[in-house]
Amino acid sequence: MPETFPKKPILRVLGGECLASPPIWLMRQAGRYLPEYRAIRQCAENFLDLCFDPRLAAEITLQPIRRFGFDAAILFSDILLVAYALGQRLSFETGEGPRLDALAEPADLTRLRHELDQRMLAPIYEAIGLVRTQLPPHVVLLGFCGAPWTVATYMIAGHGTADQMPARLFAYRHPQAFASLMDLLIESSISYLVRQFESGVDAVQIFDTWAGVLPSDEFYRWCIEPSEKIVAGVRRQVPAARIIGFPRGAGTELSRYLAAVAVDAIGLDWMIDLAFARDHVQKLRPVQGNLDPLALLAGGAALDQAVDSILRAFGTGPFIFNLGHGVLPDTPLENVERLIERVRAASRGLTGNSSEGRRT
Ligand code: CP3
Repeated sequence: MPETFPKKPILRVLGGECLASPPIWLMRQAGRYLPEYRAIRQCAENFLDLCFDPRLAAEITLQPIRRFGFDAAILFSDILLVAYALGQRLSFETGEGPRLDALAEPADLTRLRHELDQRMLAPIYEAIGLVRTQLPPHVVLLGFCGAPWTVATYMIAGHGTADQMPARLFAYRHPQAFASLMDLLIESSISYLVRQFESGVDAVQIFDTWAGVLPSDEFYRWCIEPSEKIVAGVRRQVPAARIIGFPRGAGTELSRYLAAVAVDAIGLDWMIDLAFARDHVQKLRPVQGNLDPLALLAGGAALDQAVDSILRAFGTGPFIFNLGHGVLPDTPLENVERLIERVRAASRGLTGNSSEGRRT
């Protein structure tokens, strides 16, 4: 892939550099908290129509870049499109989240294709091409996929669940069938990410939103091993692929994850202890994160303090500022502006307290 010069800040951090001013983007930065997103959303019958319309998906991807000047654009799409391209029915009910035809029994797996129907995903690749042509030169374009475990939790339950019980039970009761579903998702994720790179993304993130519910052995089997295979599989075809892992809720298991999975950086959730993450995670790999999305929603002093603690912990190492999970729909726009200003001002030493206690 051709590289622009000077190199984009996020690519520099993914390469291990420490920048005086950390680059910033937010998970779910394109979404319902933006009036310009709600305006487009109103005109579309449903969320999937937006994802499969390259022009609209590209436009929504660019909205937060225009408004806030983030350092990365993340493609507007969804992790569950992989289930859809494997033949599962998928819809998004307003206010209720995703609905799929549940895989309740091993026999239900026969309803799935043996590989992704790439033709169904062609509009996503087209959207990547459209965004590419409109991005400012310093802004990175990120693609993504859901990690197999997280995607499987929705495929098996047929909807979001509080504790991912249906998938955990399925894995205990039907280990072979579950392993074959995971293998299918590993192969599908590899080919999906490779096509995203071929279409023009600079880097990708693997979202394992529900990694944190797995006991240690299962965490190894269903989070670490699949991620390891996806990273290796993508790099076989795209050797320079830059990949960010986000095993949410992994906690102290992050050390084990990073020993096995050759991601370039690790996304941290807001629950992790900052000192642990600085001493045991950022020493191994660049980190991204990890503001509590509720602190962003709350704003004010709570937001300022949380931002300062994160900058103190990670600001002198390789670091990308982000949330610990996605922007919540009720987040006020002015809080996002305040966050960006504070991150950029602190790195220029303007808030007065940003350099205290920093590592040297
Ligand atoms: O980060 C981004 O801005 C890029 C786009 C993106 C979306 N979903 C858009 C979306 C990404 C990266 C995702 C990932 C995703 N989707 C995950 C992993 C990360 C996470 O947030 O946990 C998961 C688990 C999903 C599945 C999913 N999609 C759920 C559970 C829901 C319903 C909850 C909700 O927020 O509405 C969605 C819908 C969805 N995906 C919306 C958006 C903007 C809202 C759709 C709408 O406008 O009604």
